[in-house]
Amino acid sequence: MAIYYDKEQCTITLDTQHTTYQMKIGPGGLLLHTYYGPTAEGDQSYLIPYRDRGFSGNPYDAGNQRAISADTFPLEYPCEGNGDFRASAFSLRRCNGAVGCDLRYQEHRILPGKYSLPGLPAVYAQEEEAQTLVVTLADREAGVTVELRYGVLPGLDLITRAARILNSGDAPLTLQNAASAAVDQLAGDWELIHFSGRHAGERTPCRTEIGQREILIGSRRGTSSHQQSPFVILAQPDTTELSGPCIGMSFVYSGSFACNVSRDQFGTTRAVMGIQPEHFDYPLQPGEAFQAPEVLLAYSADGLAHLSQIFHKTIARHICRGPWRDRRRPVLLNNWEATGMDFDGEKILSIARKAADLGVEMMVLDDGWFGARNDDNAGLGDWTVNTQKLGCSMGQLADKIRAMGLKFGLWIEPEMVNEDSDLYRAHPDWALQIPGKRPVRGRNQLVLDFSRPEIVDAIFDQIVQVLDECRPDYVKMDMNRSLVDVYTAAASYQSQGKILYEYTKGVYRFMQQLLDRYPDLLLEGCSGGGGRFDAGMLYYCPQIWCSDNTDAIDRIRIQFGTSFGYPIRTMGAHVSAVPNHDAHRTEPIHTRAVVAMAGTFGYELDLNLISEEEKQQVPQQIAAFKQDWDLLHNGLFYRLTDVMKNRKEAAWMMVAEDGSQALLNIVTLDATGNSPNRFIRCAGLVPGANYRDPESGRVYSANALMSQGMPLPLYHTRYGDVAPGEYTAFQIHLQRV
Ligand code: GLA
Repeated sequence: MAIYYDKEQCTITLDTQHTTYQMKIGPGGLLLHTYYGPTAEGDQSYLIPYRDRGFSGNPYDAGNQRAISADTFPLEYPCEGNGDFRASAFSLRRCNGAVGCDLRYQEHRILPGKYSLPGLPAVYAQEEEAQTLVVTLADREAGVTVELRYGVLPGLDLITRAARILNSGDAPLTLQNAASAAVDQLAGDWELIHFSGRHAGERTPCRTEIGQREILIGSRRGTSSHQQSPFVILAQPDTTELSGPCIGMSFVYSGSFACNVSRDQFGTTRAVMGIQPEHFDYPLQPGEAFQAPEVLLAYSADGLAHLSQIFHKTIARHICRGPWRDRRRPVLLNNWEATGMDFDGEKILSIARKAADLGVEMMVLDDGWFGARNDDNAGLGDWTVNTQKLGCSMGQLADKIRAMGLKFGLWIEPEMVNEDSDLYRAHPDWALQIPGKRPVRGRNQLVLDFSRPEIVDAIFDQIVQVLDECRPDYVKMDMNRSLVDVYTAAASYQSQGKILYEYTKGVYRFMQQLLDRYPDLLLEGCSGGGGRFDAGMLYYCPQIWCSDNTDAIDRIRIQFGTSFGYPIRTMGAHVSAVPNHDAHRTEPIHTRAVVAMAGTFGYELDLNLISEEEKQQVPQQIAAFKQDWDLLHNGLFYRLTDVMKNRKEAAWMMVAEDGSQALLNIVTLDATGNSPNRFIRCAGLVPGANYRDPESGRVYSANALMSQGMPLPLYHTRYGDVAPGEYTAFQIHLQRV
């Protein structure tokens, strides 16, 4: 049993293999949060101080017991209106305009298996792998009932949370905020690690003190965004990759989100995660309910690497689905950086022919194959094949590519429309726009209102006509702007605040329909690279194009940041041409391949145009990837250097779960003459064991590798042994002897 109710102590305890999470039904039914940390037996509510604090009010039913206050207690689901002045998870407006309610415990149920959320992505598990707790809170007078759902997966040390809000009264009410989870930590000087960035520079780790203030991380863009990731970590100041406590929260949702992290006047740290309350105003008629999406929660006592590994395993095996979940993905070549939209059928076939020659397994045709799409000003919304440009139908093109022994993949961007398109000319009202206001354009395109099922269906019907014809093995589903002008004439005045949430559900429905229709399809997500890289998307696509920045050195930083919350095998990563189109940097093709192997691995260039020497390396790279993919994609991942601080070299390693083998990856970031000695400290090897490098035959002690490190390999020159130049990559295999 993972979930226990202690009737005497009024505690509900969620146990995983190494952690305990506990709540307590407190005075008057306030649901208190007592503990989240390493396994602990008994009632942890001794941690909660009962003190009368000035200006922290008391619930009416507490009488004159002034030590009882929602403002000072750690709470499971803080709401606005009960005297808690900190950031709340829940806020409602009654039909008379009054804001506020007071949620109290009603009952709870413990159920076998893991709950699911209709229409929303969520962790799934075998019935014996998980248990569910449903705690019902209510404010009878306000007419609202909140079901807090907890999924417990003990073997993974994972807890999930979600909330369902029901109008249980007889008057309409409106949700102003309905977050999915809150975590209060009474003790500990927690710091916040969040992942911020920009287009072509996603998910840079930022570690910051919290202090007595609120820090707001989030997106108002209708997508999870390039700018902030819906994944955060709380860590103690002395927590490192390999030691110290940390808590991770990952939002299984792809739309606007908010994460409010604060420290209150008495030192309690609170993290609230959920849907972005701005542009959210969700009316509920009596009997109607709203489902807040899921949050993943994990606690590690052993540092950030272990925390990441919990999220990696959870996402890889309990979020990602379908036949491609555990299979090696085909090594693909995408034409985007080779041609942009300036191609014809012959050009694509010539790129495919060389790719096939060199061992690539799939050719992906990117943007520009449909409607009047020859640049990014026209054509989106018209999903009819430009046969003139291709010189044949899409089915024929796919056949020709398959005849080369390649699989075939295709790019789509279903949520978008150009004003210069037949679709827009016929249905201008299908785009999100405010009547009378000139819309904000992004990449000269507008956004279709995917909150309306009939629009989702119309686009779906168009696109599947093409897909039915060419039966792609892979689809890259893109999304290239942020949402503004979020208004739809199809909804009432009161319902405009539902659109963003319903839009995200519309996107999910579109992807689910694709997967239902083509069960073997490999779907890759994309939003101008990694602008919608989140656990929600990964329920539908087991991989997401990690960034439009394909420069290998920049990619190390982007993939390093992404690795805190997401598995290596979900990160779309390709070898591209040099000098890089964006960073103007030149790295050897070997280095570009080593970095792409810390991702899905593929190519994004015309292989006809590389040097003969590079051409010889491509089949070797593909063979190396095939040989190592199990370790690369299923091994435990360790970040060995902090690439934000260490500007000399970046290093990471993958270690088989049983410790039998490992792959150490090193990329030098700078070079200097007569350089000081450099060592890379390994991690995750079996202590006391020995490991052999099959290439050199050398045997290393794991203890020495993990305490002193591996010397940076040297080059033999006529001047003696020298350190490698900048941007040199090494992969060192280690096999346990
Ligand atoms: C986005 C994607 C790119 C490419 C282009 C096509 O920017 O991230 O990979 O597909 O769109 O327009």
